[in-house]
Amino acid sequence: KILILDFGSQVTQLIARRIREAHVFCEVHPCDVSDDWIRAYARDGKLKGIILSGSHASVYEDTTDKAPQAVFELGLPVLGICYGMQTMAHQLGGLVTSGHQREFGHANVRAHGHTALLDGIQDFTTPEGHGMLQVWMSHGDKVTELPPGFKLMASTDSCPIAGMADEVRRFYAVQFHPEVTHTKRGAAILERFVLDICATRADWIMGDYISEAVEAIRAQVGDEEVILGLSGGVDSSVAAALIHRAIGDQLTCVFVDHGLLRLNEGDMVMEMFVGKLHAKVIRVDASDQFLGQLAGVSDPEAKRKIIGREFVEVFKAQALALTASGASTKGAKWLAQGTIYPDVIESGGAKNKKAVVIKSHHNVGGLPEQLGLKLLEPLRELFKDEVRELGVALGLPYHMVYRHPFPGPGLGVRILGEVKKEYADLLRRADAIFIEELNNFVDEATGKTWYELTSQAFTVFLPVKSVGVMGDGRTYDYVVALRAVQTSDFMTADWAELPYALLKKVSSRIINEVRGINRVTYDVSSKPPATIEWE
Ligand code: XMP
Repeated sequence: KILILDFGSQVTQLIARRIREAHVFCEVHPCDVSDDWIRAYARDGKLKGIILSGSHASVYEDTTDKAPQAVFELGLPVLGICYGMQTMAHQLGGLVTSGHQREFGHANVRAHGHTALLDGIQDFTTPEGHGMLQVWMSHGDKVTELPPGFKLMASTDSCPIAGMADEVRRFYAVQFHPEVTHTKRGAAILERFVLDICATRADWIMGDYISEAVEAIRAQVGDEEVILGLSGGVDSSVAAALIHRAIGDQLTCVFVDHGLLRLNEGDMVMEMFVGKLHAKVIRVDASDQFLGQLAGVSDPEAKRKIIGREFVEVFKAQALALTASGASTKGAKWLAQGTIYPDVIESGGAKNKKAVVIKSHHNVGGLPEQLGLKLLEPLRELFKDEVRELGVALGLPYHMVYRHPFPGPGLGVRILGEVKKEYADLLRRADAIFIEELNNFVDEATGKTWYELTSQAFTVFLPVKSVGVMGDGRTYDYVVALRAVQTSDFMTADWAELPYALLKKVSSRIINEVRGINRVTYDVSSKPPATIEWE
């Protein structure tokens, strides 16, 4: 495995993703782990190399971090990236100079000499025969003097030491960011480091992972019973399928239907988990309770709070009943959650001080302690795309595993203002038509459906009435807005340029098929300044 020490860069996760894509297992840990921790981590001989990430900081600010010195004493290959390069230079006797100017953006890097890291990896060759790489730079400080034992590996016009190497000790460092896709051969460079220099095996494969994970779950829970809150979303569904594969009927899933789910969603979840997987699922229809609490409330955050609070309450009551021992049950001892690796990193498992923790209410914080339950989180090591791959390997249907994200409060934040059952019913039907047509329309250029080409698409209910004509009569009915966005991180998003033919079909179907809606609009606002959801 590979250890990535995180100095707080926004893109540390991308380093881990690129390495996992090369089928090598890696973990991200905060940069301020101790020397003893590192030595203990390396003791079983599985650790093959260490990567030092970038940071926002400067090596000369007092508050900033150094790599634990043990990193350079284990005899393992080390790769420093950006700040990781600077701290490596600083700690090993080189010189780092504060830049007066930040360098940010594309750059052409010239490779020097022959190094095991960059040899044969290039984007183009200059007329003078120099191998060149197109890379992404983002730094203020730079290394201005090589540490003893190092040679120059790469340079740019503005950064004469853009890469350095001590090939005897197998220490390599680059000032640019190989983990971002703007660095065209970045993945090749990281692969070269982990596969060739660290000599890891590309053996991180989902099929093997299932049997390992199943064994680990069995060893962890023994013959005890487990409860899991199933939302129908990707993470909890995959966690449920995996745990069920491991311990069968020792798992009970609780599926809370808050009445704000998509059309037939509850039935589909039951059909999959009970009908196909034969898992034990308790379906709690709490829609009256949720809608009752929401009556008269129109503020978005107030609605979120109510839905979150009711969810915990309903789930807690079920969990409490399941922990009690009885004739046929010993009482559950574990609460399983679909926590995935980005959640672990964001909530402070690694050092990303600026990361904002956004937790959906399906991760019922605090509950394990209150109920005296132990936590089982079998997806803690996986990225989203790995979770999806695992879901498919476990036999979950593709459409379930590759579904767009759906917010915890569900249609509660897609009905503007006060939530009413009548509105939710109209919205569900309109939204189902939109999603169906997104799946029907294939883009000729890419061969993909428009559902696949959008990151999130849904319908919003506007509780205002407008005038229309239908046959000979006048109508006075509600309006819906269609929303479809493309984004890679949901922090920024562009509205999707859906084909007019698709919009036309959706509009005419909704108005014809959903009595009560006579007008359909398309939202052409990007994020920022708009958000993806309307509330
Ligand atoms: P916004 O609207 O902030 O949404 O651009 C960004 C992403 O977050 C989702 N979202 C939520 N998810 N509970 C959730 O679990 C919420 O309260 C919530 N609000 C927004 C939204 O669907 C989008 O994917």
